[in-house]
Amino acid sequence: MTQQEPVTSRVEDGIAVIRIANPPVNALSAAVRGGLKRAAEAAAADPAVRAIVLAAEGKTFIAGADISEFGKPPVPPSLPETIAIFESLSKPVVAAINGAALGGGLEVALGCHARVAAPSAKLGLPEVTLGILPGAGGTQRLPRLIGAAPALKIMAEGKPISAKEAQANGLVDEVAEDVVAAARALALKLAGGTLPAVPKDRTNLGAREAFEEAAAAILKRNPNNPSVEACADAVRACFDKPFEEGLAVERAHFTRLRDDPRSAALRHVFFAERAAARIPGLPKGTGARPVAKAAVIGAGTMGGGIAMCFANAGIPVTLIETTEENLQRGLERVEGNYATSVKRGSLAEDAKAKRMGLIEGKVGLEAAADADLVVEAVFEEMGLKKEIFGKLQEIAKPGAILATNTSYLDVDEIAASTSRPADVLGMHFFSPANVMKLLEVVRAKETAPDALATAMEIGRKLAKVPVVSGVCYGFIGNRMLARRTAQAERLLLEGALPQDVDKALTDFGFRMGPFAMSDLAGIDVSWRIRKAMNLKTAPVADALAEAGRFGQKTKRGFYDYSADGRTGAPDPEVAALIERISAERGITRRPIPQEEILQRLLFPMINEGARILGEGIAARAGDIDTVWLNGYGWPSWTGGPMFYADSVGLPKIVARLREFAAASGDTNLEPAALLLRLAHEGSSFTALDEKAAA
Ligand code: 3HC
Ligand code: NAI
Repeated sequence: MTQQEPVTSRVEDGIAVIRIANPPVNALSAAVRGGLKRAAEAAAADPAVRAIVLAAEGKTFIAGADISEFGKPPVPPSLPETIAIFESLSKPVVAAINGAALGGGLEVALGCHARVAAPSAKLGLPEVTLGILPGAGGTQRLPRLIGAAPALKIMAEGKPISAKEAQANGLVDEVAEDVVAAARALALKLAGGTLPAVPKDRTNLGAREAFEEAAAAILKRNPNNPSVEACADAVRACFDKPFEEGLAVERAHFTRLRDDPRSAALRHVFFAERAAARIPGLPKGTGARPVAKAAVIGAGTMGGGIAMCFANAGIPVTLIETTEENLQRGLERVEGNYATSVKRGSLAEDAKAKRMGLIEGKVGLEAAADADLVVEAVFEEMGLKKEIFGKLQEIAKPGAILATNTSYLDVDEIAASTSRPADVLGMHFFSPANVMKLLEVVRAKETAPDALATAMEIGRKLAKVPVVSGVCYGFIGNRMLARRTAQAERLLLEGALPQDVDKALTDFGFRMGPFAMSDLAGIDVSWRIRKAMNLKTAPVADALAEAGRFGQKTKRGFYDYSADGRTGAPDPEVAALIERISAERGITRRPIPQEEILQRLLFPMINEGARILGEGIAARAGDIDTVWLNGYGWPSWTGGPMFYADSVGLPKIVARLREFAAASGDTNLEPAALLLRLAHEGSSFTALDEKAAA
């Protein structure tokens, strides 16, 4: 089979229609850039061509530069060079934007003389999400077209705008259903006249003061973000320098940021999230089952949020409770959440009504009879869950997926309580379920391939990032978290204070450390669980809970919240309590350097991640990263725990873990077999994933 040319050109009625066809998203690979250059030169040289339309096949116009080429030797022509060729043509070029025009894709369109967009098209410069800035003239052309302040906003936020917004701000000239026809008509109109290129002067930039004000606000909202800083600096050059020099400023920032390890980490995040969508070992051609209606059992903290996810995605859902009273409480909480969004201006009143209209409250499990997917979110009790799944086997319609939102319970055991274990799997949402992006899809022993495919597809429809996990205690995320929690307590006993431990993690990039988080969630929650299980693993947290210090809700926990109820201050009473517990245990406290605290918290998690990978609970190291990035606030510019481990160096982690294990006598801290092997071979988690993908 001959491969389709990524760029073709056809001349008809004096117009050359140049088409990009580089599935899946028409990224600007070397072959596409080469094809565009040749097509532009041919059209320029052909006397029969009066005007040019630049169009694309498929759903997307152009998704930008080919991200997989970053970090590899450059292949000419470069993107800036390709765009410059189009911009300098003496025949009009009109971009026919049929779908997303992102990053380099929008920059190509900006190099055209005019732009027509489909009503559904999205236009944006998402480079900051990859740790870079627009590097093919976007920072110079967009401000000169729509104004410096609005252009900086688009770049700094990285979020695309709609065709309608783009028309309003002058980024596109026309919005039309048939973009190619409209672009042809516009191109012919422009032929022969003066070409309306993006001005190279300051005509459209707007007032400098307005730009500086907008830039200051944006930089304040994005502290220590080198990409956003570079965007502001490059846009500022529009005022201070001629166009060509502005391009040079942009290029310098672009190459510096592209070669920064933070950008490599963010690229890893991009690809890891997409790879996580691929389920290994699924028979070819496995399709998803249709899901037109869902049911959620239990309208508590999680159930209400999960029902909102379905309603937000336009899927009707029945929310099921044991009593009218519980049901009303649950529905009121959902309504209240939507009302808050309306108040904040993020949801329109009619959208709220529509979403509430999709949620039907019912008492009794029988109401799950017409659902294609049932998510159980009742109390975390094995007996109760088994009873419910046992009943569901009769109630749920044949082929319905039966999912549990359990955090820790054995999904195989739950599945065994039904006569249809092939339909059973875990759908582990994170709290608050309507906000958090992560969804762990737990594949049990008997889960049917198409049931798994359905849960993954539904996860994406709910705007989640779904990741497959095998069955184990705590699945991927909570199993690793338990290692960090244990070390955090241990560090307190050895000499650190809550603020030292939390600072190590917030300095690393987490929004919150484990103790501030504990205070927020309520120290009593895990205390009650430990008491029920007779666990003595957290003496400090237990002592605080016994003293009635439950966290923010009692104004005292690991920190003192008496100032305003929300801001925690270090508390000398807590320090004294910790010192007393250390003394009772015969531990001589010592100052622990921040670097050691960080390693003590992160390396045991990485070690557990290696075990999870070694056992096949996670299919890829990148899946583990995706879990931590989307469910636990791991800082994205370090790429996630396993990518970070590679950057630290696996031999160093092995050596430190051995020291920690020897010092504490905790065998859990002994390096995992997979970690040892990779370190010994001089390999990495990234290399392991690459080998598996190949
Ligand atoms: N380069 C390379 N591959 C890309 C890509 C890109 N720019 N964009 C998407 N892909 C790949 C994905 O990895 C995925 O591959 P897979 O099927 O092998 O996993 C495939 O295309 C489909 O992607 P999605 O699953 O994301 O498809 P969706 O339909 O959900 O979304 C999209 C489409 C909105 C275009 C989304 O892919 C997207 O946001 N892409 C990235 C956009 C971006 O960041 N562009 C800026 C690039 S940097 C740049 O242009 C620099 C310039 O200024 C010089
Ligand atoms: P919750 O206690 O807030 O809500 C449970 C609800 O289930 C209650 O409203 C209860 O009335 C209802 N319920 C009990 N038996 C029922 C039955 N037979 N039929 C219908 N409804 C019934 O509990 P929460 O926090 O929402 O947890 C639910 C599940 O989600 C648990 O398995 C938990 O482990 C899991 N989970 C909890 C998270 C959290 O942060 N709270 C995070 C992720 C998972």
